[in-house]
Amino acid sequence: MTIAIVAAMHEELSALLAQMPDEQRVRVAGRDFWVGHLNGQAVVAVLSRIGKVAAALTATVLLERFGVQAIVFTGVAGGLAPGVRVGDVVVATRLLQHDLDASPIFPKYEVPLTGHARFAADTEISEALAEVAAEVLVDPVALLGQKVVDDFGLRLPAVHRGLLVSGDRFVSTAAESAALRLALPDALAVEMEGAAVAQVCHDYGVPFAAVRTISDRADDEAHGDFTRFVSAVASRYSLALVGAWLAA
Ligand code: ADE
Repeated sequence: MTIAIVAAMHEELSALLAQMPDEQRVRVAGRDFWVGHLNGQAVVAVLSRIGKVAAALTATVLLERFGVQAIVFTGVAGGLAPGVRVGDVVVATRLLQHDLDASPIFPKYEVPLTGHARFAADTEISEALAEVAAEVLVDPVALLGQKVVDDFGLRLPAVHRGLLVSGDRFVSTAAESAALRLALPDALAVEMEGAAVAQVCHDYGVPFAAVRTISDRADDEAHGDFTRFVSAVASRYSLALVGAWLAA
């Protein structure tokens, strides 16, 4: 069984890529697919680049060219729900494209002709990722070091499970995140790829899961918070969460 590990940006996956001892680079569609092992598990790791089209293309190549049997997306997201803070982890149970609207022909958010707006993540993988995340977050100092914990104020990071929404927009104003909260009150966090990959995996009948660390609150400070978090912290979470899950 080969599992795909995908993140949008190098900063989100660099620590994990550094732990693959035997990776071989295969270049397809301008992307590097790293084929090898992580903690004894056969994996293909790849950077999708940012946005729904880039992510959907990457997922399709993983399924068609590499025959992966599951796809896990990792990286960062902007917190939307009130209790979802920087440093927390969100494991998706369902994913929706918040910028998809073919109404009145189809209901808002519904992917036309599928009958679905919310695509389910694989229960087994998602539960296992959430369990691992809860264990890892018990000791953020062991995970990230005292300085990072102090710099980012990561006192007691929490694990949340629920709706993750994706769109081709970096949400960087309080007004925009408030509008998303109003339209989708159960959305925990927002990013730019997950729901697109969930749709592709649904079409192929392949399990999908997404585990994201909150880098910002999708508000007026999102730009600065995101930039600081991805450069200093993001890939360490990805390695700890996905690495521990693969080792389990
Ligand atoms: N990924 C991380 N933060 C985000 C935000 N605020 N909007 C969209 N994607 C994000």
